[in-house]
Amino acid sequence: MLKLAPSILSADFNILGEQISIMEEAGAEYLHFDVMDGAFVPSITFGMPVMASIRNRTKIIFDVHLMIEEPIRYISDFKKAGADIITVHAEACKHLHKTITMIKELGMKAGVSLNPATPLNVLDYVMKDLDMVLIMSVNPGFGGQTFIPCSLEKIKKLREKADQAGCSIDIEVDGGITTSNVTDVLDAGANVIVAGTSIFKGNMKENITDFKKIFHSFEQQTNKD
Ligand code: DX5
Ligand code: ZN
Repeated sequence: MLKLAPSILSADFNILGEQISIMEEAGAEYLHFDVMDGAFVPSITFGMPVMASIRNRTKIIFDVHLMIEEPIRYISDFKKAGADIITVHAEACKHLHKTITMIKELGMKAGVSLNPATPLNVLDYVMKDLDMVLIMSVNPGFGGQTFIPCSLEKIKKLREKADQAGCSIDIEVDGGITTSNVTDVLDAGANVIVAGTSIFKGNMKENITDFKKIFHSFEQQTNKD
């Protein structure tokens, strides 16, 4: 099943609670948290207290994208704050296998994210332990950037590699996704779509509905083939 993960990085934090309710009612499957530390990426966003506070009002799946150095230091804190899926950057972990193991041992789903310039082969010895791979289609750090076209080739190659290894992982794609390019991303083999700007700009409910309509027709088309 295809899943939509709106990124709250682009939310209006003054009315975040209301916006989360709209997202849930419109059928978003995940809530995507972009946690940034000002070291791995230039920006600083939010952390555990914000997440724990949101956890009190919703049961939606928390898809937590950690753009922080050595995330192993904070995995159990994010678990306590309500994370369901934790994705770490391969580039930010000295001990990637150990970090993934810790996420799984705490009962969460584990993902690894790759920056645009990072090759897929860093996943070779961890693929079987993963629930998800997050392909960055922009350089992480900011919302509102333009999709990097060669990401499509990378997604295709990853889907092939996963199939060859017999792994039915989720492939999430993050950065610059709009209703105009999302079909190409799905065609390449992704099944979890992160969107920030294209959800929060204008009418959120309509934007989510537009994405879901595209998902629906893609699934119908795929079932026919
Ligand atoms: C970038 C973040 C993304 C970003 C997506 O570092 O990981 O989740 O907020 O935002 P858009 O959809 O605006 O590119
Ligand atoms: Zn993200």
